[in-house]
Amino acid sequence: MMRTRSLDRSRQMYERALKSLVGGVGGNARGPEWGWRPHPVFMARGTGPRLWDVDGNAYIDYLAAYGPMILGHRPPKVIAAVREVMETMGSMLGTGHALELEAAERVVAAVPCYELVRFANTGSEAVQAALRVARTYTGREKILRFEGQFHGMAEVIHWSAKPRLELAGPREAPHPVAGSTGVPKVLGDTLLIRPWNDPEILRRTIAEHGPELAAVITEPVMANCGVIPPRPGYLEELRELTARHGIVLIFDEVKTGFRLARGGAQEYFRIMPDLAVTAKAIAAGFPLAAVGGRKELMEVISLHRVAQSATYHTNPVAMAACTAAMDEIAAPGFYTRLFQTSEALCDGLRRAGAEAGVPITLQGVGPIFQVHFADRPLWEYRDMVQHARADRYTIFWQAMFERGVLFNSHYQECWFVSAVHGETEVAETVAAAREAFAAVRKAGL
Ligand SMILES: Cc1ncc(COP(=O)(O)O)c(C=O)c1O
Repeated sequence: MMRTRSLDRSRQMYERALKSLVGGVGGNARGPEWGWRPHPVFMARGTGPRLWDVDGNAYIDYLAAYGPMILGHRPPKVIAAVREVMETMGSMLGTGHALELEAAERVVAAVPCYELVRFANTGSEAVQAALRVARTYTGREKILRFEGQFHGMAEVIHWSAKPRLELAGPREAPHPVAGSTGVPKVLGDTLLIRPWNDPEILRRTIAEHGPELAAVITEPVMANCGVIPPRPGYLEELRELTARHGIVLIFDEVKTGFRLARGGAQEYFRIMPDLAVTAKAIAAGFPLAAVGGRKELMEVISLHRVAQSATYHTNPVAMAACTAAMDEIAAPGFYTRLFQTSEALCDGLRRAGAEAGVPITLQGVGPIFQVHFADRPLWEYRDMVQHARADRYTIFWQAMFERGVLFNSHYQECWFVSAVHGETEVAETVAAAREAFAAVRKAGL
């Protein structure tokens, strides 16, 4: 499909980038293989719900930098807090300081299962710490994780996130498939992989393997596999079964945390995990994550037990951003407005798809959703692989991009609505979608 707007400068920058950055990009999800074709776009700046690229094209942004920008770009109070800290404290102290208490107190107050927390720089690091805590606390080794979920890049868990089905074995008991080359095969033996959202398989697995399982880790809403909500009762049963067998239940709320509610998915669904990992929205665009949970579990983090320490932990910049972000999301009506905007957008997109006669299944929970080009609801990873059409998604994505609407270029990812998207952005997005769905229909795939 022809691009209607100039991307000459982006193309030139990509050619330059290829000479110093591997693949010309800062991460594998930013390159042509992920869908940014024929070359990635280079952005110049962002304000509120919009981005501008280096050629001057504007975009309504639902990529949201893969999730952190819940307050939009350059949120004034967060930026002011960070500026102040840079001018008064400095960027790194390497010791305790007042702002880390401010941030920790707010995060503990927001997330129901957090009695104690530790901060980390990334979700991957925090997930790794949660798994160490669960293994140390239970004295067991195995972890049950679900096919199609993503829990970050740590060697011990970056398995079966988007496995090729020809490698993944039977649906009921999939083989662990490493998410990267260079990961020791033996680590796959520490994992049990199962399909999500199937209570019968869950019951059987826990009955059979309960005594070996240190933890079950789950995204409470699958948001790295398009978006797949839990079947009614599934999380409740997971909570009940893990508690009965002494298995630590870890919610990976890197995407859902501070987004589905101030207290994340655990507040939204009213299910209390033992541990939870949060990141992304926690500092509204600055690198930060947290691992936290019940006191008796978290207390296994100490010098001669669970190692959890890193150079940049609780740096004042991240702590200031977190403190300001936590205050913003605590404002009355914050989530009501966020959900209203999200519902208006989803309704508009559903109508636009129906008017164009293109079958879509738009699934999500509040501000995270995906437009699946599928003719049925999707309940687990293999549903998505087998029934969602990547070819139609690519045409849709490209047509939206050309019309100045940005979201993830991969059909197995999701859109993020922020608190600064409003009626204007929704109307513009839906108008673009009418034409983009028409382009999908015209392609006749
Ligand atoms: C559910 C989930 N867990 C963990 C991670 C890893 O977080 P990070 O990229 O901060 O390492 C991600 C990243 O997208 C995620 O979506």
